[in-house]
Amino acid sequence: MFEELLEGWDGEEVAVRLDRDLSTWMFVCVHSTRLGPACGGTRLKAYAEPGEALRDGLRLSGAMTAKSAVAGLPLGGGKAVLAVPNIPQGDRRRELFHRYGDLVRSLGGTYVTACDMNTTERDMDVVAERCPYVFGRSVACGGSGSSAPATATGVFHGIRASVAHAFGSPGLEGRTVLVQGVGAVGRSLAEQLAKAGARLKLTDTDQARANERAEALGAEVVVPEEAVGTACDVFSPNATGGILSQETIPELRCRIVAGAANNQLARPEDVALFGPLGILYAPDYVINAGGIIHLASLELLAEDQAKRDERLLGIADTLTEVFEAADAEGISAGAAAERIVERRLAAAA
Ligand code: NAI
Repeated sequence: MFEELLEGWDGEEVAVRLDRDLSTWMFVCVHSTRLGPACGGTRLKAYAEPGEALRDGLRLSGAMTAKSAVAGLPLGGGKAVLAVPNIPQGDRRRELFHRYGDLVRSLGGTYVTACDMNTTERDMDVVAERCPYVFGRSVACGGSGSSAPATATGVFHGIRASVAHAFGSPGLEGRTVLVQGVGAVGRSLAEQLAKAGARLKLTDTDQARANERAEALGAEVVVPEEAVGTACDVFSPNATGGILSQETIPELRCRIVAGAANNQLARPEDVALFGPLGILYAPDYVINAGGIIHLASLELLAEDQAKRDERLLGIADTLTEVFEAADAEGISAGAAAERIVERRLAAAA
């Protein structure tokens, strides 16, 4: 399976380590270093088999190359996956992140890590005890902390740009936005949307979380199974990947899809389904770049908060450029975004 996956991948290299003591496979996927060190989060997850973990890492690392390129950052794309038998806690977790830190250090800065699914700023603090190639440590340990609020702010700017393109004005007063997933990103996004006067519908598989957020923000709760078919102006996926497919896209009852979830499309070619349905799709890696912008701006480029905020606002300009290019050339927004990525990578070659 490894052979087949690697043969079908267009990245640079993969470092693989099997830690027998901890029964953990570690994959560090370096997709591209053309624009700078490959950067992307570390995913901690139990998989049915190691090949599935490698598949995840390869796919996600390519999206990171595109994300940093389109955001204009001096970073390449990478992703690491730690395939564990079960999610470790306490001393075992600490030991795992020390050993993982040794692996990242051995790559000499080719890959810079950060948080992803099931990894936290505390874990990055532990990795940093072994290696310097880490973003997203806690503020107490000298890092810039969670990137989720910045991701949410970037999505908020992106939703305004999408609304402006679809309806002629960026105002959110009275626009209905369905926020799928009110975790770290969705919660902050929902707060910003409520403040801007949007009418909110919230959904989360954690029903108590959805109810609590809805009560605090005066929002309506939608059950997760009905989210895709619920009428709204903007459907904002902020939960999990793969939710937009041949089956679900025709069910959507919205004018815009714009949210933070990574790899929203089940298959990349499904991006072509939106246009004929009159749905404006904000490519995920364009609108959700706020997290990597936060880390790169504050930790790599040593910029201040104001400069970071300016970069977050730039997500709106980039999306507008993507939508206008797509209209002018009669292509999907996904294809227009890819052209920007290709241009930036070619310019650096
Ligand atoms: P999180 O784990 O804090 O929140 C996810 C929320 O979605 C949870 O409340 C969970 O209960 C809910 N959920 C899971 N499956 C669901 C489903 N099928 N329907 C409805 N709700 C569901 O994660 P976080 O950090 O908020 O990230 C959200 C998404 O944004 C993820 O796809 C992540 O990869 C992506 N993202 C996050 C960034 C960040 O800075 N945290 C950066 C870029 C992308």
